Amino acid sequence: MLFNKITALSLGSLIANKVFAADLPAIDVKGNKFFFSNNGSQFYMKGIAYQEDSANVTSGESFNDPLADYSTCSRDIPYMQAVDTNTIRVYALNTSLDHTQCMQALNDAGIYVIADLSQPSESINRDSPSWTVELYERYTSVVDEFHNYTNILGFFAGNEVTNNKSNTDASAFVKAAIRDTKQYIKDKGYRDIPVGYSTNDDEDTRVAMADYFACGDDDVKADFYGINMYEWCGSSTFQASGYADRTKDFGNLSIPAFFSEYGCIESRPRKFEEVAALYGKNMTDVWSGGIVYMYFEEANNYGLVSIQNDKVSTLSDYSYYSVEINKVSPTSTNSASYSPSSTSLSCPATNSNWKAATSLPPTPNSALCDCMSQSLSCVVADDVSDDDYGDLFGIVCGMSSDLCDGITANGTAGSYGSYSFCNDKDKLSFVLNNYYQNNGKSKSDCDFSGSATLQSASTASACTSVLSQIGSAGTGSASGLSTFSNSGSSSASGSGSKSASGSSSSSSSSGSSDKKSAAVSNTQNSLGKVFMTALIAIGATAGVGFVIA
Ligand SMILES: *[C@@H]1O[C@H](CO)[C@@H](O)[C@H](O)[C@H]1NC(C)=O
Ligand SMILES: *[C@@H]1O[C@H](CO)[C@@H](O)[C@H](O)[C@H]1NC(C)=O
Ligand SMILES: *[C@@H]1O[C@H](CO)[C@@H](O)[C@H](O)[C@H]1NC(C)=O
Ligand SMILES: *[C@@H]1O[C@H](CO)[C@@H](O)[C@H](O)[C@H]1NC(C)=O
Ligand SMILES: *[C@@H]1O[C@H](CO)[C@@H](O)[C@H](O)[C@H]1NC(C)=O
Ligand SMILES: *[C@@H]1O[C@H](CO)[C@@H](O)[C@H](O)[C@H]1NC(C)=O
Ligand SMILES: *[C@@H]1O[C@H](CO)[C@@H](O)[C@H](O)[C@H]1NC(C)=O
Ligand SMILES: *[C@@H]1O[C@H](CO)[C@@H](O)[C@H](O)[C@H]1NC(C)=O
Repeated sequence: MLFNKITALSLGSLIANKVFAADLPAIDVKGNKFFFSNNGSQFYMKGIAYQEDSANVTSGESFNDPLADYSTCSRDIPYMQAVDTNTIRVYALNTSLDHTQCMQALNDAGIYVIADLSQPSESINRDSPSWTVELYERYTSVVDEFHNYTNILGFFAGNEVTNNKSNTDASAFVKAAIRDTKQYIKDKGYRDIPVGYSTNDDEDTRVAMADYFACGDDDVKADFYGINMYEWCGSSTFQASGYADRTKDFGNLSIPAFFSEYGCIESRPRKFEEVAALYGKNMTDVWSGGIVYMYFEEANNYGLVSIQNDKVSTLSDYSYYSVEINKVSPTSTNSASYSPSSTSLSCPATNSNWKAATSLPPTPNSALCDCMSQSLSCVVADDVSDDDYGDLFGIVCGMSSDLCDGITANGTAGSYGSYSFCNDKDKLSFVLNNYYQNNGKSKSDCDFSGSATLQSASTASACTSVLSQIGSAGTGSASGLSTFSNSGSSSASGSGSKSASGSSSSSSSSGSSDKKSAAVSNTQNSLGKVFMTALIAIGATAGVGFVIA
């Protein structure tokens, strides 16, 4: 450790360390298993969730990036190695920080990283799901930052987004995120890094959701599937815990499955007797190991170690886990001699518990949004606060929902407006312009008490064809969009990408009281909420029977 630190400081980390430690071989997916790419040995995840709570972050940051501070990751790595850790799961990364030293130190310790692509204020919101230009840029920025490290095992495109049968439509948006992230990796010529999903453990949706993510062509399906599993509590058995049933549930899955979190704390200290089952013959055909929740002891009491004054103290959970994990030796197969029993799966039928459409939202395209917004005559005034957008959407969409078809998205119906991924300012301008166009185009139709204003519309020649194919209602589909970028003015939408700026994000936990909430779980976008609330309110008073998701 000390040696690495000195070379890193004196010579520059990447180059210096590369001289001393070979890169870990990338991990490949074949059938429902992971394999080392160098020699085809099977890879079982022996993981720990590694992210400090955001409670104690210093001002200006919304979370603690666990891979950006070499003094802390290098402090913790030896404790992970001592419990045979080969994977850590991280939940939120800051792409403007430098991760070279921690990634190198993890590499040197034989540890892979599986990283969530979202972060608390940029994630798919289960209550009003969307897959937007802003999220696309967030996800691809994490890929850009980390693709070069061969010890990136994979990416999660979402964590516990759909969490019960009331919000299964949100999974259509997550699956679109998987599709588009995979395509981005391919288009950039990056290593074929797997992209998957991490779910909660909900009885009603469990099997259908796994099938939903695993089904379809290679370019849309998830590459792996994690389930956050808290069923084995205290002393139990393979049968009594529920693990036997879950193993049956996932037995047909054609992609690797693993516990993306586990470790029930109903009975403490945790003895981790489930480890023998998870890495034993009853389960290894179906599961590729798991990730213990979690490294740091915090208010939720799930820690293996506690940190005081920058010193690590191991807790009794750590000792029990250490005994169990160091005892297992899962049987393994070799990639060359393994032929998957199933490589494809049909998508689940829709029923009262599962409603997500297999038709997915469109790929976010900021150039298209730019074309659209420049082509409008009536737009939202620059001085309108984005806090007021929700009211304006409510007023216009409440008058006639047709005006808003181009910007709404419905993951149950599988119907998506062609501009549904644009930023809120562009979307609001689109509906204000629709109102203006449909009401005689007098100046008073573009006013809304000063919230709307006229501009001179322009359509660049590159935009003409796609805009006309999509049509003024915003519901048509245009060919060639996958390669369409408005190269002349390629920057992110000129009118200012309106994310929920300055909004505080509240954590949406995983629900059931006997299960924990992830360290940094998906959060609700407050603007989305305002939008929804306004529409529901307007819909109710106006007797309009629709709600926008
Ligand atoms: C295959 O390579 C991995 C990573 O270097 C190593 O841990 C494993 O022991 C190797 N397998 C065999 C059978 O040598
Ligand atoms: C935050 O820091 C204080 C003081 O160091 C500590 O007592 C507290 O436990 C920390 N809270 C969390 C959630 O880690
Ligand atoms: C990322 O780090 C930069 C530089 O420290 C900081 O300004 C920014 O607020 C951080 N972003 C988040 C989302 O934490
Ligand atoms: C990835 O590696 C290549 C070649 O080693 C290097 O030129 C490039 O800068 C690296 N990119 C990142 C994002 O680290
Ligand atoms: C589903 O989860 C949401 C969000 O956690 C919660 O508000 C709702 O009550 C749950 N619904 C059902 C049917 O369990
Ligand atoms: C697995 O496949 C078998 C054979 O097709 C089928 O009978 C069984 O219901 C499937 N199990 C699940 C949980 O889907
Ligand atoms: C495997 O399953 C059998 C039958 O339920 C059980 O007797 C055995 O203890 C299990 N093995 C482990 C390691 O849990
Ligand atoms: C989405 O479409 C379904 C029909 O497929 C409909 O029942 C539902 O109300 C729509 N949802 C919203 C939020 O409009």
